[in-house]
Amino acid sequence: MMLVILTERLAQILEWLKSVAGYSVVESNSKALNVSRTQRGKDRPPLDCFPRMNHSLRLAVGQSSSLSELSTQADDCILVDGKNVSFLKLSDLSGDSKKDLCRRLVASNGQDVFLMGISYSEAQSLTNCRDFPKTSSQTLPRCRSYRLRKTQLMADPFDTLSSVVNQVNNKNRTLYFSRHGESEYNVLGKVGGDADLSSRGRQYADCLAEYVNSTLGSIPGFKLWTSCLKRTIQTAKNIKAPQEHMEALNELDTGVCDGLTYEEIAERYPIEFAARDDDKFHYRYPEGESYFDLLLRVQPVLNRLKVEDNVMVIAHQAVLRCLLAALLNKDEKELPYIHTPLHTVMRLSFKPDDGGRHLDLIPLSIECVETHRAKPENCSLTRTAEEALITVPAHF
Ligand code: F6P
Repeated sequence: MMLVILTERLAQILEWLKSVAGYSVVESNSKALNVSRTQRGKDRPPLDCFPRMNHSLRLAVGQSSSLSELSTQADDCILVDGKNVSFLKLSDLSGDSKKDLCRRLVASNGQDVFLMGISYSEAQSLTNCRDFPKTSSQTLPRCRSYRLRKTQLMADPFDTLSSVVNQVNNKNRTLYFSRHGESEYNVLGKVGGDADLSSRGRQYADCLAEYVNSTLGSIPGFKLWTSCLKRTIQTAKNIKAPQEHMEALNELDTGVCDGLTYEEIAERYPIEFAARDDDKFHYRYPEGESYFDLLLRVQPVLNRLKVEDNVMVIAHQAVLRCLLAALLNKDEKELPYIHTPLHTVMRLSFKPDDGGRHLDLIPLSIECVETHRAKPENCSLTRTAEEALITVPAHF
């Protein structure tokens, strides 16, 4: 009986995911539901098999009695309550708010609640939850795992609990962003790598430190997050604030194109170059990442940023595009082209009582190269090299 219910529920949910939530769903194998999200470089699906299928989601089914436990371990949840299926963006909430939300769910929905916990990053098993069958792969033999591809940035179509979520976001706060100072690779027009700052990049680091130390450093609780790459750490070096270095903030992995200029990519991999221009958000560099991969990678950082105040993030062009797009509700077409200039502080103010959120760009007037390459008009495979390179910014 339990199996029938679960299978029915799963069918409903998959249908909902396809038709409403913007996922495409591909049946993957006949293991139990408990399938971990593809890990970077580990059990990632072969590129030729799922070139644009960037992750599979872990789904687990729990009974109402384990609701609280499941949802504190999940990033997001799908709630099945009678005939209603709802997507709950738990990733917007801090740990305490999640628990509070669960308490409200339990109180308002009684026993007839099924919750599908979705964990985007944790390989750890949700089946450890109380009440979940210990031998789930034997007891749920007909359940299959599914690869789910999000085809749009998730806007919550079943925003029934938005008031709870909004309580968390409903306060004035300010976040600061900056790219690292100009790097030796930026000067040469190369992508990827782990280059040092150029001499102008080091000047920016000094200027940024002066700006932050004199204006923000005295704010109680002000803190700094950087990637683990040399250029962001060097940029942050003289800033007086607690610092955290996060791999999740490392720049987009450009795979086989690492260390090449756009001109070299266009010459060696013209088809790849055109495919990226055609759909930059979903395009994944061979042996590297797509913007979509990156957006998933930065989710844990985003979750923290959604409740933090007075944090400065020093990261990279593609990473900051993902963070700003998510925080400013930009869509996937805009995201990979958001302008995040070098040597500029980006201040994002949240003022819920006064029109929402506002982004100010504060250039610190140290000269640098431009690294923004606009989408060329012609993205076809038959375009000429000149057409492909028309928007490449100048470099040495
Ligand atoms: O050019 C600097 C850089 O950080 C590269 O390392 C990275 O590949 C690139 O920006 C991302 O920009 P785009 O996605 O526009 O090529």
